[in-house]
Amino acid sequence: MTADTGYRYILATGDEGEHRLELVHSVHGPDTEKLLERAGIRPGLRAADIGSGIGVVSCWMARNVAPGGEVVGVDISEEQVRVAARRAAQMKIDNVTFVTATSDATGLERASFDLVYARFLLMHLPNPEATLNEMAALLRPGGTLVVEDGDFEGPYCSPRSSAYERCFELYRAGVRLSGADPLIGLRLTNMVLNAGFSRCDVSIAQPVLREGEAKRLPEWTLVEARDKLIEAGLTTDEEITAIAVQLRRLAADTTTRFGMAVMTQVRAVKAA
Ligand SMILES: C[S@@+](CC[C@H](N)C(=O)[O-])C[C@H]1O[C@@H](n2cnc3c(N)ncnc32)[C@H](O)[C@@H]1O
Repeated sequence: MTADTGYRYILATGDEGEHRLELVHSVHGPDTEKLLERAGIRPGLRAADIGSGIGVVSCWMARNVAPGGEVVGVDISEEQVRVAARRAAQMKIDNVTFVTATSDATGLERASFDLVYARFLLMHLPNPEATLNEMAALLRPGGTLVVEDGDFEGPYCSPRSSAYERCFELYRAGVRLSGADPLIGLRLTNMVLNAGFSRCDVSIAQPVLREGEAKRLPEWTLVEARDKLIEAGLTTDEEITAIAVQLRRLAADTTTRFGMAVMTQVRAVKAA
């Protein structure tokens, strides 16, 4: 279940979406970890992961703030929170907790975190500025905001594939159904500055895949969004099936490269 905010997330949550988010992390995790290291993650810090999903990044952060530190993961979906807590317990990580709340009103203590992080969250929100303001409010003076999000016009297939391009066209249209912006990465720097940070550091990361299970992500993401895309009249069952067949073939072809979401990674320190 998801708290009723009128918000419409186009992908599956809970157990159904768990494997997809694990794969997302296998693709983007190495760049995320480098980003958090540059942001100074270290033992003793109190950190928050907003829109924490199944908690893959929260758990990595929890390991890196131990001993002495702790992490709070926040997600609007009770299913995601349940899966995240189960995974943390299985990994015997005891310095992370997960709470169900909306990202723009977390209910967490103001000015109490050293580091506040979000990935692939703002692109799903009709009002991402409200969440950035909340994240800023959670930081103590001198604390670090870390956000990374995608530009979904950036994915490419080499050699070019019309199925790959149509897959991402549909994905962008699906994200826009809820008034959200699948190209938010392009605006992220200015959004952070507008949230009251006087300067920020920016980097770009685009994973490229030639082989491996994660190369099936575009196909699986499309299939997960199938019902919502059809319901909105954006496509048909036949088209999704035809694209999925093409994507599966391309994923198995190691001479074909998939450029994944272009991630804008922003770090900014709250004025002391
Ligand atoms: C694509 S997943 C990303 C999860 C995680 N950050 C990661 O990168 O693995 C987006 C997550 O944001 C959550 N979410 C969407 N809207 C939210 C909101 N308004 N408040 C809190 N969480 C939200 C969804 O439930 C989902 O778990």
